[in-house]
Amino acid sequence: MRERERVSSQMATVCPVASLHQEANPSRLKVGSVKTLAESSNLTSIPSHYAFTTSASGDQAVHSDHDDSIPVIDFSLLSSSNPDQRRKVVSDLAKACQDWGFFMVINHGVPESQMKAMGDMLTGFFDLTEEEKREFEGKHVLDGIRWGTSFNASVDKVFFWRDYLKVRVHPKFYCPSKPEGFSEVLAEYAGAVRKLARGLLKGISESLGLEPGYIDEAMNMDSSLQILTANLYPPCPQPELAMGMPPHSDHGLLTILMQNGIGGLQVHHGGKWVKIDPIPNAFLVNTGDHLEIMSNGKYKSVLHRAVVNNKDTRISIVLSNGPSPDTVVTPAEQLVDGESNRAKYIGMKYKDFLELQQSSVLDGKSVLERVHLS
Ligand code: OGA
Ligand code: NI
Repeated sequence: MRERERVSSQMATVCPVASLHQEANPSRLKVGSVKTLAESSNLTSIPSHYAFTTSASGDQAVHSDHDDSIPVIDFSLLSSSNPDQRRKVVSDLAKACQDWGFFMVINHGVPESQMKAMGDMLTGFFDLTEEEKREFEGKHVLDGIRWGTSFNASVDKVFFWRDYLKVRVHPKFYCPSKPEGFSEVLAEYAGAVRKLARGLLKGISESLGLEPGYIDEAMNMDSSLQILTANLYPPCPQPELAMGMPPHSDHGLLTILMQNGIGGLQVHHGGKWVKIDPIPNAFLVNTGDHLEIMSNGKYKSVLHRAVVNNKDTRISIVLSNGPSPDTVVTPAEQLVDGESNRAKYIGMKYKDFLELQQSSVLDGKSVLERVHLS
């Protein structure tokens, strides 16, 4: 079986969601947040609309092997004046993108104080009352601010044990007006992470044999679409039946994630689900669908999922760094040659791809499949 088919048939056993573009169910009851549900007294079991028939427990995750653990990239070496050190980190990036599609980044230049301030702001945001948060409930996928639950509550058949806040932060900056001071903290943090993303993309360009500035220019990164997703996973009385986030790949070029020290993220690697333990103050970075498209499949986006637990509230703060919304992303010309290495993807405007994904049921890499040619 081809890798893609193998992976998606595996996914079917994990996440029995229906096909893309189900009709929204107008008679669906409005669901409240998982936070409110989890805090309601005497919750000993989950409501049936949160229960997956085949759960994560039927598909046990493992810890990574000692000799194949998640790669660690020292970002500071990319600006080293020592050419050997630079060459080494570029080759580490190539290996990380090819073998894992996920890596930890240390010495990333984002101050700890900014990371902590972001964590505090998001905790503060999710602690607002349901009524206050409802003010930020988005209606459309292109709304700048969207607080919600599950993935796409109007089409999801089974709900995910997750509340979220999604905010577009670049090229146009949005931010909820609460809690106080959020917008200064978010603007600063997002700027620092964007700088990190562009720095990593330089190294990644080089690792593909392209000019260091190639991706930055071709993807119009001055107008990069950057979206914050903060995920709240409250304790769940039956974590083995629920799912925080189903297997999916990320749509952008690079996703940069921090979390509150509680694990839950699992990465599909070497045919298994591998648990990723948080490293304090490091970022977790993964390659997205549009890096797969621009690299003509050399660097594939990787499936990952989030499971929940019955003890601790987990918060993850995720920044997706993508091309500018109007960029039509195609494989880099230099990576394609006539017969032996044809373009494997058709070009699509980044914002059109996004709209397709956000209006669908989250289902593995199904949106990327639509632009994949072979
Ligand atoms: C995401 C994501 C994982 C997590 O937001 O795209 O994969 O651990 N989150 O919350
Ligand atoms: Ni993701």
